[in-house]
Amino acid sequence: MSRLTPENVERARATIALYPKARSALIPLLHIAQEQNGWLPEDAMIHVAELLDLTPAEVYGTASFYDMLFTEPVGRHLVSVCTNIACLLDGGQELLEHAEQTLGTKAGATTADGEFTLEEVECIALCGEAPCLAVNWRYFGKVTPGDFDRLVTDLRAGRMAEEVPPHGTLNRVRRTVGLPAGVPAGGRVAPGGPGNAGQGGAA
Ligand code: FES
Repeated sequence: MSRLTPENVERARATIALYPKARSALIPLLHIAQEQNGWLPEDAMIHVAELLDLTPAEVYGTASFYDMLFTEPVGRHLVSVCTNIACLLDGGQELLEHAEQTLGTKAGATTADGEFTLEEVECIALCGEAPCLAVNWRYFGKVTPGDFDRLVTDLRAGRMAEEVPPHGTLNRVRRTVGLPAGVPAGGRVAPGGPGNAGQGGAA
């Protein structure tokens, strides 16, 4: 699946309505597409371009610029191990090497079953709990090799589905209220009007 589903097209249109200019909704729409697919296939980016009246190149230019947007397939779990200075001094490099061994893949690659993508990252702002890592942007600190193995086992078994949703899911709480562009703060919106639509915010 790569083009947006009808439900996500609806979310996309409600999101576009929040901005004075449609193109301002580009990043939120890319997050919707990434949430649907786990990454951004070409068809998804073309669909986003159509919805925003942009060229596919404009969409790709943005998608390929930002760290949290992926134009190549990503495993269901994106494991980001920090090896910046605080983590490096507290076993971050060893943790990364252990992760490579446990997952049977090098940093920058995905396991054959598509479950895990491992990456080495710069500081993720959890220096006080070094060495640390993130899985799908959920943070884990003071991670020992044993902790890592348990984490992988639990993720594979689906025991952490509540804490760590599939890659691309930023926020499972949908925005249900909001004012579309052009409606003054405190302005009245007629029942059934645009402000009453479920806005389905950007993930
Ligand atoms: S150096 Fe690893 S989180 Fe800051």
